[in-house]
Amino acid sequence: MLNIVIFGAPGSGKGTQSERIVEKYGINHISTGDVLRAEIKNGTELGKTAKGYIDQGQLIPDSLMIDILAGVLDSFKDSKGVIFDGFPRTIAQAGALKQMLAERGQEVSVMLDLDVPEDELMTRLIKRGQETGRTDDNEETIKKRLVVYHSQTAPLIDWYKSEGKYQHIQGVGTMEGIFADIVAAIEKL
Ligand code: AP5
Ligand code: MG
Repeated sequence: MLNIVIFGAPGSGKGTQSERIVEKYGINHISTGDVLRAEIKNGTELGKTAKGYIDQGQLIPDSLMIDILAGVLDSFKDSKGVIFDGFPRTIAQAGALKQMLAERGQEVSVMLDLDVPEDELMTRLIKRGQETGRTDDNEETIKKRLVVYHSQTAPLIDWYKSEGKYQHIQGVGTMEGIFADIVAAIEKL
């Protein structure tokens, strides 16, 4: 089982690199952001709740997010492993993930931290906002997302270091070059 947490600030390349990892290793992908955006698109109650938080750059409450994650995890049958993209984002979510995997006789194999400076994150997300119209990719909301990242999510770096799962990845460079570093990290597990 290959259970990867792909970690990093908004715009660090979690989704981009997850696609490549899925293609190479044939594992399942959960992007909690994608799950929530699909709910919004489908106009569900969950989507309505989520939209309020996402458009403010805030996190969805832990209990709600953990329930959603558990549901998606249960839907994977005969899985070779999972890449968790955008989850966990708080210490509470990290603890819940550890417990959920332990209940299934599994654990996180590695946490890959895509490290990208803030000016580059801003440039990437502004560009994506212009190209795709993603509603939280505007300067004001990106700034809020970065504040939330530093206060609530970045503490997971030390949490995963203490678990012995942490792997730093230089997140600036070509998408191919970054992927090569990720593969090297996975191959040495
Ligand atoms: P989510 O969808 O997870 O957004 P995010 O973490 O802000 O990250 P992004 O998806 O914006 O960036 P990414 O790291 O995937 O980068 P990407 O590959 O797209 O979450 C959105 C919201 O949902 C949250 O704010 C929150 O409200 C809620 N939410 C989600 N999960 C939650 C949770 N667990 N708990 C509570 N709330 C939750 O790349 C970005 C751009 O850069 C792309 O245009 C890409 O083409 C480009 N790019 C990628 N790599 C490179 C490169 N090497 N060089 C140049 N450009 C690059
Ligand atoms: Mg993403």
